Amino acid sequence: MDMKMKGNITLGIIKPYAVEKGYCGPVLSRITEEGFRISAMKFIRLSKAQAAAFYAVHKDQPFFDPLVHVMNSGPSLILLLEKPDAVRSFRQLIGKTNPQEAAPGTLRRLYGESTVLNGFHGSDSDENALLESHFFFSLLERF
Ligand code: RTP
Ligand code: MG
Repeated sequence: MDMKMKGNITLGIIKPYAVEKGYCGPVLSRITEEGFRISAMKFIRLSKAQAAAFYAVHKDQPFFDPLVHVMNSGPSLILLLEKPDAVRSFRQLIGKTNPQEAAPGTLRRLYGESTVLNGFHGSDSDENALLESHFFFSLLERF
């Protein structure tokens, strides 16, 4: 696929575990060093219902209840990020779902604790990036 056909936005989340550990500062520095522009950002503590809605695709998975529980455990930092080929590029930066399988230098490898406490989310397609950006941010919040 031609680069120009790929989207240039993705929705990133610094999950409650990584916020609580104090990793927002170094992680935001790394994200901007990697060439992403932060076009919107806010802290939100998701309710259980909101976390379940966000991860609805996983509702029949055995890890769904722990996932909702950890996402509801404290504030998340929600990021709207811009860069060419943003979805692929940000998922590469965060690394594999299980921090122990994530490549050295990736955010989950550096800061994640376990699969459920992996610290970060990144949209998995351009379509989902758009849906998730509207889930979290109104037009008035985008710069
Ligand atoms: P995310 O959506 O948070 O960016 O993570 P992902 O695409 O890498 O992984 P996904 O399959 O969408 O799973 C969403 C979150 O559920 C937890 N999970 N646990 N086997 C397991 O125990 C398991 N698999 C997934 C992880 O916290 C993952 O980030
Ligand atoms: Mg996912």
